Amino acid sequence: MQTTLKTRDLTPSFGSEVIGLEPSTPLDDSTCAQLRQLFDDRGLLVFRDLDIDHHQQLWISKMLIRQEHVPEKPGTAQVDDNFYVSNRRDGAAAPFGRLQFHADTMWADKPFEVLSLYGKLIEPPAIPTLFVSGVSAWQSLPARLRERVAGLSALHTAGEVRRGDLTNVLVSTVQRPPTSTQPIAKLHPRTGATVLYVCEQMTKEIVGLTHTESEALLEALFEHMYDPAAQFQHEWRQNDFVVWDNVAIQHARPNVNSDGPARTLRKAASPIPQLDRDQLPSFSSAT
Ligand SMILES: [Fe+2]
Repeated sequence: MQTTLKTRDLTPSFGSEVIGLEPSTPLDDSTCAQLRQLFDDRGLLVFRDLDIDHHQQLWISKMLIRQEHVPEKPGTAQVDDNFYVSNRRDGAAAPFGRLQFHADTMWADKPFEVLSLYGKLIEPPAIPTLFVSGVSAWQSLPARLRERVAGLSALHTAGEVRRGDLTNVLVSTVQRPPTSTQPIAKLHPRTGATVLYVCEQMTKEIVGLTHTESEALLEALFEHMYDPAAQFQHEWRQNDFVVWDNVAIQHARPNVNSDGPARTLRKAASPIPQLDRDQLPSFSSAT
């Protein structure tokens, strides 16, 4: 018997909560089809009180981009169950600080298509994760800005980009930063939607403009995309599973203190860009 999943919109334009999923692996075909459609339409799915292990988290994440049967290269940190964002766990990523809006690995020619976090150990009041949609931002972009960016590309880097309010910002230092140049109006590789594809944390410049022109145009785009009214704020609880389209959706977080409430999030992403050791980040505070 086919069951229709119960869902609830998180914002008018993106994000849905899925209610009552039984997390068996693999999920039945009808459930997978509904979830894939919802993921393509809404870009971000939230499941609460879901008891899943790392394997199930990665399987569901990859199923949503129709890659559940494609093996990742073995030995990459994010395929093994050892990739955590945490202010408690030794060796975890982003252990403290604030993160400006970004899409993970936006500096890669083929960034993560899907990214997910699972609330492994959460003590209230844990710092939330903030989200915006580059698809919604493009759809609502004023015509004069659409015309201005038509045909323009931006350079993204894993190296340092210092812009805007840097209070408490966590800076990741990379010896040999990867870079990628992408159209600002990027066509989504799976859905075909146009995505406003620049971010405050990783976009270094708009190609072919002077520094002043580039910064002014980026500032106008950021002001539109990061309008507080366009953001969704996810308040973490233990056993929350949040999975999003990393090309369409950007994320950020307010400042996390090392000695604040426990905030341990298990991360899964796909596909993983292959990096050399000197292209991996080390973390320090901006201020
Ligand atoms: Fe991130």
